[in-house]
Amino acid sequence: MKFSNSLFMDSLVNNRFPKRKILEEYSDYISYIEDAYKFGQSHVFGWWNELTPSEKKSLLEQISSIDFLLIKNLFNDAVLKTTQVRQGVLVPPHVIAVPKNDAEREIAERARQIGEKSLRKGDVAILTVAGGDGTRLGINGPKGTFPIAPISKKSIFQLHAEKIIAAQKRYNTRIPWYIMTSKNNDSATQNFFKFHKFFGLDPQQVCFFIQGMLPVVDLDGNLLMDSKSNIIMSPNGHGGVLIALKEKGILGDMKSRGIKNIFYHQVDNVLIKIADPIFVGHHVKEEAEISLKVVKKCRPEEKVGIVVYIDGQLHIIEYSELSHKDMCEKNEGAALKYNAGNNAVHMMNIDFLEKVYQMGESLPYHAAMKKVPCLGEDGGLIDPKENNAIKFESFIFDVLKYVKKSVIMEVLREDEFSPLKNMEGENSPASTKQDMINLFGRWLQHIGVSIPTDSHGNVVGLIEISPCFALDQEELRNKVDRHLQFYGNLSL
Ligand code: UD1
Repeated sequence: MKFSNSLFMDSLVNNRFPKRKILEEYSDYISYIEDAYKFGQSHVFGWWNELTPSEKKSLLEQISSIDFLLIKNLFNDAVLKTTQVRQGVLVPPHVIAVPKNDAEREIAERARQIGEKSLRKGDVAILTVAGGDGTRLGINGPKGTFPIAPISKKSIFQLHAEKIIAAQKRYNTRIPWYIMTSKNNDSATQNFFKFHKFFGLDPQQVCFFIQGMLPVVDLDGNLLMDSKSNIIMSPNGHGGVLIALKEKGILGDMKSRGIKNIFYHQVDNVLIKIADPIFVGHHVKEEAEISLKVVKKCRPEEKVGIVVYIDGQLHIIEYSELSHKDMCEKNEGAALKYNAGNNAVHMMNIDFLEKVYQMGESLPYHAAMKKVPCLGEDGGLIDPKENNAIKFESFIFDVLKYVKKSVIMEVLREDEFSPLKNMEGENSPASTKQDMINLFGRWLQHIGVSIPTDSHGNVVGLIEISPCFALDQEELRNKVDRHLQFYGNLSL
């Protein structure tokens, strides 16, 4: 809904549906109704007389959950931001590079031992953020339910679950798995797990928790609706995890299970090395507060955040907020200067997260322009062709500004990063499946198995290796040998 003149709308709403009438009928909600009027959002009552009592109640419940002052401030900030320029000089970070020589391999090996010890002790939990709406992918249902495995068509959630099962077996431990959902996808996610019997995990070790929501506004700051009684709300960004972890008692639950560090990742990366012991080990060894994995950006415009220092402090700058100049800047060797791409795999110390929460400062919100179907003034649904809406999200990596100790570890994109974002082209089901097949193909080639590839280096044929059969190349080497014949379709 887009009202160019909200004062006019207020008087219209007041004439047709006097506030007094709403107040009399639902006196419990007086202060919230007053707020909606005070902050110029009374158009949400535009169809009040057409609503059933339960729809009226539902609308008032939604209104009572909205912080109108926050939304007004976020909108004003978003409008001002277009003229603001980030201050400070960007400096590429020091990263632990992918080992290239014996000395570096030795360092990685020591980190692995520390990481494995920590995993065996049960110090580490997995945290998957899966609350996003996945609008770019455009599927009906949570992204994690997407059938992605090249042959078995296992879902992304199942692949993650099997990696956890395999790690538990390897380290003879139990690894709690926390999954952040949103109101929009929580029941679909939980039902999917129940239907698939938690993919063999103990339901007690899987904990779902719901992040917060914020209303979506139009380009004038008015709340949007998608039915006459429903205000459009969207998840408040994965930064919402910080509040949700504390306020839903998750940090407390983690502590009671003896967890010290969280292995954090996004649901959409199908090559994720869950609980990678080398990464865990570096983080533990350095007593880091937050650690980051990075991959080299594949091109300047790639839609990944970049890890940099600004005035001596670690930051991730989101791709949508990076200037074109910084995006394309080269160093002397002609490589991209800001090349440490965020593949969104972090280790987080839970005491540090609690400390940041207790500081009471909320993470900043970032505004994103979107196309959001919504009700027009006549009550009909509009499917916009242009951006018509602003969503507000906080980003977990904004906690980096409080970090004093961190480790940044580079990993190979082809081994660890292939996110599912779009239906076609880059980061699509086709590309992520091919990336999985290529990874399994390289494992087999290293063992000496002959695997054909095309001129782009893509494996010709289908390969799938279940995490429960082999979690990595070393484990595979113990189970198959070079005499294995590949006839174009191999499932292990
Ligand atoms: C994200 C990162 C980007 C990184 C890239 C790697 C952000 C802001 N940016 O970009 O720096 O390089 O991934 O793939 O994260 N999510 C929630 N709740 C929300 C919003 C998102 O749980 O309210 C989850 C999603 O389910 C998903 C993840 O966060 O797992 C990333 O969200 P998405 O919108 O896909 O981020 P990108 O723009 O791809």
